Amino acid sequence: MTAHAAPPQPRLANRRDAFWMPFTPMRGFQSEPMLFESAEGMHYVTPEGRRILDGMAGLWCVNAGHGQPRIVEAIREAAGRLDFVSSFRMSHPAAEAYAERLCAFAPEGIDHVFFVNSGSEAVDTALKIARAYHHARGQAGRTKLIGRHKSYHGVGFGGLSVAGIGRHKAAFGPLLADVAHLPLPYDRATMAFSRGQPEGGASASEALETLLQIHDPSTVAAVIVEPITGSGGVYPPPKGYLERLRAICDKHGILLIFDEVITGFGRLGTPFAAQAYGVKPDLMSCAKGMTNGAVPMGGVLVAGHVYDAFMAGPPETVELFHGYTYSAHPLACAAGLATLDVFAEQDLLGRLHGVLPLWEERAHLLKGAPHVADIRTAGLLCAIDLSPRPGAEGARGGACAKLCYEAGLLIRNAGDTLVLSPPLVIAPGEIETIFTTIEAALARID
Ligand SMILES: Cc1ncc(COP(=O)(O)O)c(C=O)c1O
Repeated sequence: MTAHAAPPQPRLANRRDAFWMPFTPMRGFQSEPMLFESAEGMHYVTPEGRRILDGMAGLWCVNAGHGQPRIVEAIREAAGRLDFVSSFRMSHPAAEAYAERLCAFAPEGIDHVFFVNSGSEAVDTALKIARAYHHARGQAGRTKLIGRHKSYHGVGFGGLSVAGIGRHKAAFGPLLADVAHLPLPYDRATMAFSRGQPEGGASASEALETLLQIHDPSTVAAVIVEPITGSGGVYPPPKGYLERLRAICDKHGILLIFDEVITGFGRLGTPFAAQAYGVKPDLMSCAKGMTNGAVPMGGVLVAGHVYDAFMAGPPETVELFHGYTYSAHPLACAAGLATLDVFAEQDLLGRLHGVLPLWEERAHLLKGAPHVADIRTAGLLCAIDLSPRPGAEGARGGACAKLCYEAGLLIRNAGDTLVLSPPLVIAPGEIETIFTTIEAALARID
């Protein structure tokens, strides 16, 4: 008789250990896994067939709704035609077409795009372009970067350095040295329950002048802000704030970067927040909604005058020693082009304007519900701050999100702040479902 080798023992006690998940408490997930098998329109479907209303557009990215046939088909077709081509010293038609269409979608004066694969890469690329811009203009001493309290700019060392969420940085040792942070322009005492932009932006933005009294402005390369603080809890800019940041940056020759990874691609009813607020940055990072979340992609949109500064040297030199193997990946470009088609053909922005008044109205009806301390709405975004349970910060937010999920609604909690960013194709009835579900959950938590 032949002796058979014993079957190999599973190396991991629980096969779910194999996938080390981002920003996830692994051991908690293993005891209560949340799995989705398919998605369509406004809904995810679990392996058991339960339909879950997506209150967060995937992760602020599936703006046109899940499974848009035109995007799915474009990716299929692209994969069969040109699987890959490097963008180092070569290109392909979809990259050129998408770059042109994307720049036309962006504010006037933004004429170039540098393609990357994620929001984190977009932010790090924007920061590097900012420093290199000054270098190219003979001001290599301008290296400092100014971020803001509560901002999220991804997880690269650059983005993490300018970001303003302490717990994201704590474990990773020294970050970029030349960084300072603005305060969050938010004061609950005067700004609570804001619809759109609260008052008080002009004075809040003076914090930049104050910071520049400490950090010699001639050593500062760029100020980076999310036009609306997103992951940190949806804080819209108070009126006049972004305008004043722009003016102060101009006065001191500092570049202004908008991180539009969340606010881009229609979230505020305009292509980007820059158009909604009428303030033009020098550089804009984007990702997420670019491909409707269907293929990883990011980009840095670059104003003409910034790009031109790089083009003054000898023509045979590489102007920017930077890039990624998958920059302008053919599948991502195809998905990006199809996403812009969907925006135009389905008039996503026009449709969104039709539901925004209901969104705002319905959200603010939660004022007075148990534990609600503030509600902020801007475009199709909403944050609901819950007062923390004494001694258990974040517990109420987590409990509320869990009850919502059990009731068929996926929302996100950043600690005790509930954050909502559904697909832009949301119907009035789904808006009603979101807020009645949250209301019912709030009534049940202690
Ligand atoms: C404003 C902002 N910047 C950057 C990022 C990072 O994007 P990614 O996760 O694609 O790297 C995010 C992600 O949520 C974001 O919200």
